[in-house]
Amino acid sequence: MPAWLKDAVFYEIYPQSFRDTNGDGIGDFPGIIEKLGYIRELGCNALWINPCYDSPFKDAGYDVRDYKKVAARYGTNEDLVRLFKEAHAMGIRVLLDLVPGHTSEEHPWFRESQKSDDNEYAGRYIWTDGWLAGTPGHPYIAGESIRPACYMLNFFKCQPALNYGFLHPVYGWQSSTDSPEAQATVEAMKDVMRFWLDQGCDGFRVDMADSLVKDDDERKSGTCAIWRGIRAMLDRDYPEAALISEWSNPELSLGSAGFHMDFYLDHRGNGYNLLFRDYENHGGDGTASDHSFFREKGHTTDANGKADIRRFLDDYLPKLAATKDRGYISFISCNHDTRRPRWSLDERELKVAYTCLYTLPGVPFVYYGDEIGMRYQPLPTHEGGYDRTGSRTPMQWGSGKNLGFSDADAGLLYLPVDPSPDAPTAEKAMADADSLYHTLKRVLALRHAHKALQADGEFRVLVAEKEQLPFVYAREEGGERIVVALNPSADRVQGEIGEAVTNQLFAVGDVSWTAGDNTTLDLGPQSAAILI
Ligand code: NOJ
Repeated sequence: MPAWLKDAVFYEIYPQSFRDTNGDGIGDFPGIIEKLGYIRELGCNALWINPCYDSPFKDAGYDVRDYKKVAARYGTNEDLVRLFKEAHAMGIRVLLDLVPGHTSEEHPWFRESQKSDDNEYAGRYIWTDGWLAGTPGHPYIAGESIRPACYMLNFFKCQPALNYGFLHPVYGWQSSTDSPEAQATVEAMKDVMRFWLDQGCDGFRVDMADSLVKDDDERKSGTCAIWRGIRAMLDRDYPEAALISEWSNPELSLGSAGFHMDFYLDHRGNGYNLLFRDYENHGGDGTASDHSFFREKGHTTDANGKADIRRFLDDYLPKLAATKDRGYISFISCNHDTRRPRWSLDERELKVAYTCLYTLPGVPFVYYGDEIGMRYQPLPTHEGGYDRTGSRTPMQWGSGKNLGFSDADAGLLYLPVDPSPDAPTAEKAMADADSLYHTLKRVLALRHAHKALQADGEFRVLVAEKEQLPFVYAREEGGERIVVALNPSADRVQGEIGEAVTNQLFAVGDVSWTAGDNTTLDLGPQSAAILI
């Protein structure tokens, strides 16, 4: 386990929209380099950059055309290596996005694979044995190739599935996981990883990590075996490199596949969703629900059922227990696939929410712009974003042209910047000591200063009653114990925690507490406290 993960806080960058330095309307590597100081100052010491490789961008770069060459719009491979170096000089690690499950239909491997001759790449993708015979139970494409066969898709139409084999092949055209062609795919992906790791990359966020072996069993034993092999390569040759999976099943990802971290993603009804989002609870129409634990309204009696912290804990605690000492669960403010949290929570609610999110165990992530409460923008789809597009708009830096994102004319921008006159910007947020930005910055500073708040610190629930407030927990490590108390509601609430605190490290809103063996907390509306 790379030791640096213990105190890592990641910042996710969607490179298209972070900072454009050459005036073409799209973000670039020099732009990321320019803003490393900003990221460090916020308190993040690691980056995850969404796919930045050569691509036709039908899925924002998750359709890779060349794994070893960056997209010209972001700069050159040399620029990316310079980014690794400059980030390292500032104590920031850099994870790239690895897309192992599929390539672009324009990848040269696929182009070769489409031919009718039996070339080196004939088995790199999943092809059936008939021009009209599909892949049972999976999406497939017919009629696009000289080869008289159909190929399987992994996501969009532009993303043919790479061939890692089937767990139990049924048809003659299905490879087994130990077939030479499936093994060659694994080796090709390892080669891609080594290529970037050798140049200073610190690891990978792995796209659709559970999608490799087809018709895998419930325990994903075929896919897990591949990742265990890859993890062995890292342990042997790159022990400092980190892997985080897009899986959202930490028992399998951390416990069986050997990932260091696994995202707790926003899946309807799971713990993360119930804690922080839950905005589609009312019939899936996209309106904010009153159940989300951090929504002030969620705690009023006129809501259709009250927000309940137990619903989060019932999902989270077993996952945490099952993965103890195996790896880390990663909480996110949002990501490029999810609506920004500002969509359903206002700034006051977000302050309480972030105090919680960034004091939980594991390795947390901040999505660019969430530190200033950037808003989800209703926009038409761009680069395969669909309703994800609204979370991918340009970072709002300041009061300048295009809010400091780019010097290009507005019509040239990758996506429009937030047009509202009160659009939050980093400049305004940094100048306001009471801003969401400063709340997050203070919480992250405390996290870095106290091991108890970091990845490995124990998590112990002190007060969490069904549909009641406050929610109070302790984080502990090496004899230090820190208490986090949260009241997201509009009412003042009291709670007893049965143990003593002596000092207040941080507070949002109006908070008081009594000294003594059994601390009584008095938490004003929408407040949070970190006590020691
Ligand atoms: C998950 C990525 O996060 C998403 O943006 C992408 O569209 C799909 N995987 C397909 O690669």
